[in-house]
Amino acid sequence: MEELHLIILAAGKGTRMRSARPKVLQALGGRPMLAHVLERADALSPAAIHVVVSHGREEVKSAFAAREDIRWVDQGPPRGTGHAVMCALEGIPQRARVLVLYGDVPRIPLADLEACAGSGERLCVLGTRVRDPRGYGRLIEDGTGHLERIVEDKDADPQEAAVNHINTGVLAGEAAALQRWLVASEPPAGGEREWYLTDTVAHARAEGESVGLIASADPDAVLGVNDRAQLAYQERALQREIADRLMRSGLTLADPDRFDCRGSLTVGTDCRLDVNVVIEGDVVLGDDVEVGPGCVLRECRVDSGARIDACSVLEGAHVGAGATVGPFARLRPGAELQTGARVGNFVEVKNAVLEAGAKVNHLTYVGDARVGPGANLGAGTITCNYDGANKHHTDIGADAFIGSNTALVAPVAIGDGATVGAGSTISRDVPPGALALTRAPTRTRNDWSRPRKEGASGSGNNHEG
Ligand code: UD1
Ligand code: CA
Repeated sequence: MEELHLIILAAGKGTRMRSARPKVLQALGGRPMLAHVLERADALSPAAIHVVVSHGREEVKSAFAAREDIRWVDQGPPRGTGHAVMCALEGIPQRARVLVLYGDVPRIPLADLEACAGSGERLCVLGTRVRDPRGYGRLIEDGTGHLERIVEDKDADPQEAAVNHINTGVLAGEAAALQRWLVASEPPAGGEREWYLTDTVAHARAEGESVGLIASADPDAVLGVNDRAQLAYQERALQREIADRLMRSGLTLADPDRFDCRGSLTVGTDCRLDVNVVIEGDVVLGDDVEVGPGCVLRECRVDSGARIDACSVLEGAHVGAGATVGPFARLRPGAELQTGARVGNFVEVKNAVLEAGAKVNHLTYVGDARVGPGANLGAGTITCNYDGANKHHTDIGADAFIGSNTALVAPVAIGDGATVGAGSTISRDVPPGALALTRAPTRTRNDWSRPRKEGASGSGNNHEG
């Protein structure tokens, strides 16, 4: 078999998207559509991958700068899918087998691609039957069930428009033959009409070739993305696919239709995710991890038996075994909760280690710090880590107790077992076991009465509570 070259068409304007961004960079499952197509292309182990670009070419190329193997083809002003393939063919050996993919058909099944590339026909088209064929090229068969030509949506007469057998865009053929049929398909210069790749079918037939037709196994996955409604449709389909795979691997999802994975999720046994959990980047859960509704987990690891309660946002964090987080907690990069540590509501932790059993239950900011094992931070504790120019470290020893509403002005260290009285501002180290407090003494006076408004009478204004 001749070597296989892939052409991915990604030069179209994507007008129907109404976006400043090139269409193939629109995200599906957290990655550009083109990344999905490239993943499938790679799986075919081709001799080369040629990606045709034009609009936003620099943006597209830089999004895939790490892919040094891609052969970028600059189409110049896009004149249609036929012209795009023509441009790519210049860099492909005449005898090569060519498979054309579209950058805006991101969920194309690998099995379909393999079937089309390996069909052995001089020209082979991947089609499918749909309920609503609007917007797609229609596959017109001759009387004997062979493909005769493809009619584009905007050129279809009412009878052709009623055909629900559509072109997925995927097509395979021999490079030299494709070139010949494409030359024959070129529309007259200066006309309005684009140069259609799909016209190669009629020209192959005119040469007496029969054209192979493969039916896709998954009519939903071969649909293109031209506008944001179609993008959302493919997003839900992709999410359902991911959810099904995770559920088969043993994950409990409260509702697979209210789950979004925009990265990769690895789970142990018996993890449970409540509704509206969003996963981004690489997230790893141990066994028996429970995640409450509305949580966002981005690039983090949560060990066995940990619980993340409702509406918590975790990014770049490591939650140790049996630790609990939330509800309404925020763990930022470098947050590390060791075994059994506890972070409660309205607590933010950044670049800080909470050692085993440490508790930070409410309304607190812990940044650039170590909190020793068993230490307890009261509500409203703030590590003042930033002096306006530099970040400084706070060290809190084992079993230390920090009273509510305390400012710890870093750099500062609180010794093991030390106690800080509520409402203190601590700017010097506290030795182990000591009590430190900066609280002003409470004064009480019994000879004082509250001012009264001139002329005001009665108890209503003199409320005591
Ligand atoms: C195309 C097909 C149609 C098929 C449908 C499937 C043609 C003429 N029509 O229509 O039969 O049913 O896809 O989704 O092929 N592109 C370029 N250069 C260009 C024009 C387009 O690279 O000059 C790229 C686009 O970026 C896109 C792909 O080719 O990735 C398809 O172009 P698009 O304009 O979306 O074609 P459709 O109207 O969807
Ligand atoms: Ca399209």
